[in-house]
Amino acid sequence: MRIIVLAGIAAALIAAASCTPGGKTGAASQLKKTPFGSTADGTAIDLYTLANKHGMSAAVMNYGGIVVALKVPGRDGRIDDVVLGFDNLNGYLGTNPYFGAIVGRYGNRIARGRFTLDGVEYTLARNNGENALHGGLRGFDKVVWQARDVSTPGTPRVELRYLSKDGEEGYPGNLSATVTYSVTDANELRIDYLATTDKDTVVNLTNHSYFNLAGQGNGDILKHELQIDADSFTPVDAGLIPTGEPRKVEGTPFDFRQPTAIGARIHENNEQLIRGRGYDHNFVLRGGGGTLAPAAKVYEPTTGRVMEVLTTQPGVQFYSGNFLDGTIRGKGGKVYQQRYGLCLETQHFPDSPNHPSFPTVVLKPGERYQTTTIYRFSTAQP
Ligand code: BGC
Repeated sequence: MRIIVLAGIAAALIAAASCTPGGKTGAASQLKKTPFGSTADGTAIDLYTLANKHGMSAAVMNYGGIVVALKVPGRDGRIDDVVLGFDNLNGYLGTNPYFGAIVGRYGNRIARGRFTLDGVEYTLARNNGENALHGGLRGFDKVVWQARDVSTPGTPRVELRYLSKDGEEGYPGNLSATVTYSVTDANELRIDYLATTDKDTVVNLTNHSYFNLAGQGNGDILKHELQIDADSFTPVDAGLIPTGEPRKVEGTPFDFRQPTAIGARIHENNEQLIRGRGYDHNFVLRGGGGTLAPAAKVYEPTTGRVMEVLTTQPGVQFYSGNFLDGTIRGKGGKVYQQRYGLCLETQHFPDSPNHPSFPTVVLKPGERYQTTTIYRFSTAQP
């Protein structure tokens, strides 16, 4: 009898110890693996849900390394899913604009799908008019990754590996890529990217999550306030290829040095906004890349959610979801209208292989491509 009582007290103490200051969830951090259907050729796909002790969780699958759900608390403690996507695998297997996916080998565009490396011209799959976009016809967003639980005490982690063969989508070299997702008790989704090659190649990996901090499907992102740690951006031509000259943000609608509502200037008669149908531009980060530095911060006034983006990358593509057009029905039957999500894709600059003045994206045998991006969540009062 006495033993049972003591055991009961111990259980209560353990439960109390795992309670968050707000006492919202009381759950310990953990990784859970659940089946998530299979691809057309019968490959089984799993969903890895990484949860921390504050009730934040990220669900990631081994198809495309896609972040399927990202649940974070708001000001009042309510937890919402803040990324666009689908309820099941079939949604992702159909045409969709890279919801939550790992993008590779090359995030964003390479002009006319061509570049020259070591005197050899390479021709890539063209899947965006005359340009190559996001790695080609079957980029890293459409392949099955090998997943492994690499959790450490208190931090759930899943490692995804993919070997991209020499010549795949036109890129040279066997590229071995590893992407690790972690959810920390600091309410961070951390993404570590690693790649090695056996032949000179180009690489630019990123994640293409569409965020809506009011909750996915709950309206557009025009009232989200955005701040970007950039003094300049790379203007584009009509095909959204950088012209090559960085331009100061000062005095333009691209000045996000102070927090500004995304909708405040998006409709201005500005050639760059017209070309992008809104914001679809690479910002040159003040940190310059190489060390982890702040890239951007987003605040959603109704829920109080704040998302900070930190990265070791030199650039961030701010895409305001301009091409969403109401034809996609996503999670919970929500229809995604124009600008229902925003992307902050940390990366090297678009079309770098054709711009020697941009930071290099060349990876050689013996080198390690290694980058980290953190999406950190908190809340703020109005
Ligand atoms: C690009 C956009 C594109 C979107 C979806 C973004 O990274 O910059 O131009 O429409 O991805 O593919």
